[in-house]
Amino acid sequence: MTDLAALSLQSAAPWWQPQAGRALVIRGGRPLAGTYPISGAKNAVLPLMVSSVLTPHLVTLHNVPASLDVAVLAALLQRLGADLRWSTTDEGLSVTICADRIQPGRIETDLVARMRASVLLLGALLARSGEARLPMPGGDAIGLRGIDFHVAGLRAMGAHIDLAGGMIHARAPAGLKGADIRLSLPSVGATENLMLAAVCARGTTVIRNAAREPEIADLARCLAAMGVTITGLDSHTLVIEGGAPLTGAVHTVMPDRIEMGTLACAAAITDGAVLLRHAQADLLGAAGPVLAAAGVVLEPVDGGVVARRSPDGLAGTDFVTQPYPGFATDLQAPVMALLARAGGASAITETIFEQRFRHVDELRKMGADITVRGRTAWVRGAAALNGAAVTCTDVRAAAALVIAALGAHGETVLEGLDHLDRGYDRIAEKLAACGAAVARV
Ligand code: UD1
Repeated sequence: MTDLAALSLQSAAPWWQPQAGRALVIRGGRPLAGTYPISGAKNAVLPLMVSSVLTPHLVTLHNVPASLDVAVLAALLQRLGADLRWSTTDEGLSVTICADRIQPGRIETDLVARMRASVLLLGALLARSGEARLPMPGGDAIGLRGIDFHVAGLRAMGAHIDLAGGMIHARAPAGLKGADIRLSLPSVGATENLMLAAVCARGTTVIRNAAREPEIADLARCLAAMGVTITGLDSHTLVIEGGAPLTGAVHTVMPDRIEMGTLACAAAITDGAVLLRHAQADLLGAAGPVLAAAGVVLEPVDGGVVARRSPDGLAGTDFVTQPYPGFATDLQAPVMALLARAGGASAITETIFEQRFRHVDELRKMGADITVRGRTAWVRGAAALNGAAVTCTDVRAAAALVIAALGAHGETVLEGLDHLDRGYDRIAEKLAACGAAVARV
């Protein structure tokens, strides 16, 4: 993977500071207390930023998380000819994107290799300019993560797509046309890509078996602000009326439900009490009851949710990852870290990605008792976890290791921090403000 310094992210995202130090040292055992501001959702902001490519008018996004993925996508958009203006207020980071002179030319591998969400540019660029050429996307190494649904849907809308030599070349010289598309699985990315493409297609597009993750509705709200009519958001069938003249939009990114779940686990494993500012417990779907069964109390209050451990302590519980409103695969690793310290046993079944147990070996180094058989991890809660030297293997594995480290005896040294920075906005600073002993070295 290309060295971050070589990507010159600062010109596209001047707020991005390459973090000093290769390791995060966490001394566990301190109860977290205070306020942890939940940022805008990583998985919402990326498609929202891409939606700016659809219109020559200004798109302003508020509550943008200051994460590495956002900086990488900003650099990608800049290379395509977009102009990005950033501002910071007490309410966080905002960006105004002007894509009036977008150049759909070839996008280089270095940035795309860092981020799977770059594939969303396929639908947006095809829609706007009738052509897109980009490398096969990268991202976390957590499974096959094909793009066959994206490609099949865009072909149904009239695009010609060649896949050769690791490149995707898509053309729709006469423009895209609305289509009736059924996804074999409710893929989040494919749903978003086809929504973006459908906005500029002639006629109506129907996406059946569409994903229902809250980030899809957030994208739909922004597209609606641009003048697009989208219905069916409370069902698995989305209907998008294409071809309406687009305006600009001003949109506030929804709060990050995965960051909320992660920090709820951190508060509970340390037996602390943290106000998760801006958090909305109803976004957790099936993860809400699972966290409750595990002994995490989530109390909605003015301005957020207070997370703490139940007086009855942490308890083992079983869950299966599913598309929303099922248990989010992105919370599987963080909740496993919590359950590694719970009283009793848990069975955790991963159905979305094939290789999403790479955190297990690292958690074992800290004393966790976990056995993987097929798609199920069997966790026997340990009385204590111990600090160790561990490596982050993907963004959510990184979050799991932070949780385990906060709840462990002694010092944990985490390496592979790019993964943490990709998805979490200033997590070390925000944890330190809640009393955690955490330092980047
Ligand atoms: C998004 C999220 C990611 C989350 C995932 C599932 C973003 C930026 N990322 O990823 O954090 O873990 O949803 O909630 O929003 N698949 C295919 N062919 C396709 C598309 C998907 O086989 O064309 C498979 C994937 O390999 C995977 C499953 O479908 O096994 C779900 O993937 P998908 O919902 O598309 O995930 P992403 O959009 O990549």
